[in-house]
Amino acid sequence: MRSHYCGDLNTSHLDQEVQLCGWVHRRRDHGGVIFLDLRDRNGLAQVVVDPDTEEAFATADRARNEYVLKISGRVRHRPEGTVNPNMPTGEIEVLAKQVEVLNTAETPPFQLDEHGKVGEDVRLKYRYVDLRRPEMAEKLRFRSRVTHQIRNYLEEQGFLDIETPILTRATPEGARDYLVPSRTHEGQFFALPQSPQLFKQLLMVSGFDRYYQIAKCFRDEDLRADRQPEFTQIDLEASFVDEENIMGVAEGMIRTIFKEAKDVDLGEFPRMPYSEAMNRYGSDKPDLRIPLELVDVNDLMENVDFKVFSGPASDPKGRVAALKVKGGAELSRKQIDEYTKFVGIYGARGLAWIKVNEKTKGLEGLQSPIVKFMEPIVDQLLERVGAEDGDIIFFGADKAKIVNEALGALRCKLGEDLDLYTREWAPLWVVDFPMFEEEDDGRLSALHHPFTAPLCSPEELKADPGKQLSRAYDMVLNGTELGGGSIRIHNQDMQEAVFDVLGISEAEQEEKFGFLLDALKFGAPPHGGLAFGLDRLMMLMTGAQSIREVIAFPKTQSAACVMTDAPGEVSKAQLKELNLRLRAKPQPEE
Ligand code: AMO
Ligand code: AMP
Repeated sequence: MRSHYCGDLNTSHLDQEVQLCGWVHRRRDHGGVIFLDLRDRNGLAQVVVDPDTEEAFATADRARNEYVLKISGRVRHRPEGTVNPNMPTGEIEVLAKQVEVLNTAETPPFQLDEHGKVGEDVRLKYRYVDLRRPEMAEKLRFRSRVTHQIRNYLEEQGFLDIETPILTRATPEGARDYLVPSRTHEGQFFALPQSPQLFKQLLMVSGFDRYYQIAKCFRDEDLRADRQPEFTQIDLEASFVDEENIMGVAEGMIRTIFKEAKDVDLGEFPRMPYSEAMNRYGSDKPDLRIPLELVDVNDLMENVDFKVFSGPASDPKGRVAALKVKGGAELSRKQIDEYTKFVGIYGARGLAWIKVNEKTKGLEGLQSPIVKFMEPIVDQLLERVGAEDGDIIFFGADKAKIVNEALGALRCKLGEDLDLYTREWAPLWVVDFPMFEEEDDGRLSALHHPFTAPLCSPEELKADPGKQLSRAYDMVLNGTELGGGSIRIHNQDMQEAVFDVLGISEAEQEEKFGFLLDALKFGAPPHGGLAFGLDRLMMLMTGAQSIREVIAFPKTQSAACVMTDAPGEVSKAQLKELNLRLRAKPQPEE
């Protein structure tokens, strides 16, 4: 039907007869001449319909926005003065000879170039219309191009693309499972995979040596701007490798696609131990584009006459940290109050601050609600944080976890609000993670997942689990965790030791992971791997504000699809077949 895509036409096609198919993006009537901007997935072309071509003109006259047309015509230069340098096809136009309506369209729920006027819910309900917008189409084309490059890279490195099941058992990645009732096994359920983790390890036991998959993963967790209940991982695993091998392949892949798709040189990624990331940035995914750092002041605050600070400073689990912002003395009281509210989200009970107006004047030159308590240590404090006139110093004092989260988030917010970014891209590896973290109820949980190898023997692990580090690594880009992985446990004793520490009983180990423990007995090679979040990677590479912008049919914040109206109710017959009965919905109170 078509000879060219609309968006591909340029001066090399001058005087050629072309056939175009696409949608009416805009129709303008200019004193007897009709202009149609015809759109397809590659872009727009301007079509001119002259009254001389009577039939074509009559058809063009009744065409409306989003009608589907076929146009035959000749490519010509746009007349002097009407060239549009902002449009890839802006130098040419097509003089139509024939116009055919392939299909009509009702008035769309929103004008494509006025999508901002409708809510995201409307865009998602009519997603097929929303995806016609050139920016959306470009994001999906970009995604396709990058996944192609990823496949090329991994195939060249000898990785085999192998699919793993979607109907499976629970894989513990820390989220809730999506469950699927079994019809053939009454009262039993499949779980959708939170990741292909266990299967890829089993593929290593099978000897495939290098596996990859662009895999759908499912996690029923609270959603945020960079999380979806159903998302895609670039998942890898390899045998007879150590951290250097996996990190090398993964870093090479990211560097290659940034170069090929965006012509950006990311350079070599620095590495930072987890403890350093927490101390300096309050986060295990530090945004290194922002030149602000947390500075420990516990030792200075231990004996000040301000309980809010001296308490946490003397508590082994407490922390008092300072965050100096250059030039921040200009922040107004109102702005500081807003930042105080902001850190409250993370559990901080306040946000003390000192404005450094004139350092040489001592206490007189400082402005702060807590300055009177700081007298004995003020010189050391200013020196420690490197404060100059015009700076502000913020403080957090609480349990270390709260201080890190609150000041870590404040650091990023200040970076954004004050536009402090020093460069466009800041990748790094975070390494030397603790093996376990303590939950609020005092129990230990795996920081990565329970198949990650510790950097110690099973005996040492059992003796002092809280202190042990793991062989895990995360790749972070601009403050987002792009991917993570680890060297795995490949012997059964170690795997059982980890399950023990996690308080998973032998019976439960057998019930949930018996197949893995068995496999470890049948010649499991040393192995390790990693998974990237493809959607997050796309979000960063395209500069999208939300993960939904880079997924064709995403779910809403409440994990629903407003277009298909999923999840939906099912018939009684289906429930019966599955041996399920729904509990009566609680009646709203009178
Ligand atoms: P992890 O749980 O860290 O590791 O996941 C790997 C990467 O997947 C992305 N990701 C998500 N993206 C969108 N929405 C979500 N809900 C979501 N959850 C995770 C993140 C994350 O870095 N099996 C291990 C990997 C391994 O050890 O090889 C795993 O799944 O970018
Ligand atoms: P207050 O003594 O409660 O009036 O607090 C004095 C200053 O300390 C105020 O600026 C509070 O915002 C701040 N502040 C209170 N609690 C904390 C805390 N846990 N961490 C940091 N600053 C705090």
